[in-house]
Amino acid sequence: MSDSNLMGKITSLAKRRGFVFQSSEIYGGAGSVWDFGPLGNELKRNVKEQWWNSMVHRRDDVEGLDSSILMNPKVWEASGHLDGFTDPLVECSNCHRRFRTDTPGVDEDQCPTCGKTEVFGDPRMFNLMFKTFMGPVEDEASTVFLRPETAQGAYVNFINVHNSARQKVPFGIAQIGKAFRNEITPGNFIFRTREFEQMEMQFFVEPGTDDEWFEYWLSARLEWSHSLGIAEKKLRVHEHGKDELAHYAKKAVDIEYEFPFGWQEFEGVHSRTDFDLKRHQEHSGKRLEYIDPAGNKRFLPYVVETAVGVERTVLIALLDAYTEENVDGVERVFLSLDPRIAPTKVAVFPLMKKEGLPELADGLYEDLRNAAIPSFCDMSGSIGRRYRRQDEAGTPWCVTVDKQTLEDGTVTIRDRDSLNQERIAMEMVCKWVSDHLLKV
Ligand code: GAP
Repeated sequence: MSDSNLMGKITSLAKRRGFVFQSSEIYGGAGSVWDFGPLGNELKRNVKEQWWNSMVHRRDDVEGLDSSILMNPKVWEASGHLDGFTDPLVECSNCHRRFRTDTPGVDEDQCPTCGKTEVFGDPRMFNLMFKTFMGPVEDEASTVFLRPETAQGAYVNFINVHNSARQKVPFGIAQIGKAFRNEITPGNFIFRTREFEQMEMQFFVEPGTDDEWFEYWLSARLEWSHSLGIAEKKLRVHEHGKDELAHYAKKAVDIEYEFPFGWQEFEGVHSRTDFDLKRHQEHSGKRLEYIDPAGNKRFLPYVVETAVGVERTVLIALLDAYTEENVDGVERVFLSLDPRIAPTKVAVFPLMKKEGLPELADGLYEDLRNAAIPSFCDMSGSIGRRYRRQDEAGTPWCVTVDKQTLEDGTVTIRDRDSLNQERIAMEMVCKWVSDHLLKV
């Protein structure tokens, strides 16, 4: 299968099975924003849960935060985003569309949209932040921005979290939340969008220990990607050269994934020094220094940041899991998702619609729901078709209730990847699934 085919196949499977829909589709869509359907929403929630478990719940040195999307506009002045979060663009004097200078047609001074010639002047810097107004008056004084990263919420709350959680440096603040960027070249399905979610963690350390912590977090984040089952050969690290560094970074490494459209950033690990805290201290006039209780040292902590997109992780999970195989002359497509992130954990089928099998299947389905195990009961179609639907949804286990169930109360559990089947007591299914979810 060629790589370009793979993106097409993932996009169509995502729509067909209810992972991802185009936003406002009935109106022809909206520019590079997407909606997550029943399965996509579950997949996203599971990815976020895995991240939160590893970054917050399994640690004693990282606290969670949920800060607001709208912030005081001075935050963006201090952070450097008002001046520095820009792309050089040219604007067509006829239709007013803006383009990167490397867009085909622009170098011949012809607008790629309206076709008019001699329409471009010199490139100008355009800010990528979305603007809106707070309150009833639409003027410059009431202009606010949709945050382009969640990180700033952690910096402006550094003292609040440190005091209330009684954490000592080194400690981190983790956050999952929406971010918005008016990207000029969005695309590749959900890879680069204008509205997305970030999972970011700011780790505050004593200056001089930042290099060590940088290496620590880079390897912890690589390990997390491996733990989701993402193929190791598809991951690599790329250190930013001086010309690539963001305005706040002293050092930055991208964890890259080999997408069908090439190696691209999956996650960033950034050494931000005291850039952000220092700027917020200057602009707000509030002291943001940490006072070490033991040695009475006073310093502005340095920050090591880890930042990854939820949708980008979802895209990688789908691409990496997509598998086509031929079993005894029959083609099958399945998503070999790690069971912890799979949207549905178990599907229950009665083999036939008679002899009380549907009622038994329904009872098992109710037990699974009561145990809060995401599950599905499919009564219709041939057993082969029902398996195929679940394979495409990435459901790790299918349970079939058959005639033998009537005799001895056992059911079969079929494994999505190996196709192995085992018989267990129907009353043990919830425990079996819970045990297997803990094992992976
Ligand atoms: N706070 C640092 C920061 O925002 P970034 O490298 O610009 O760093 C971090 O973004 C991560 O957020 C990226 O590695 C990517 O996974 C995700 N991301 C950034 N822009 C995105 C976009 N337009 N669409 C989807 N995900 C995006």
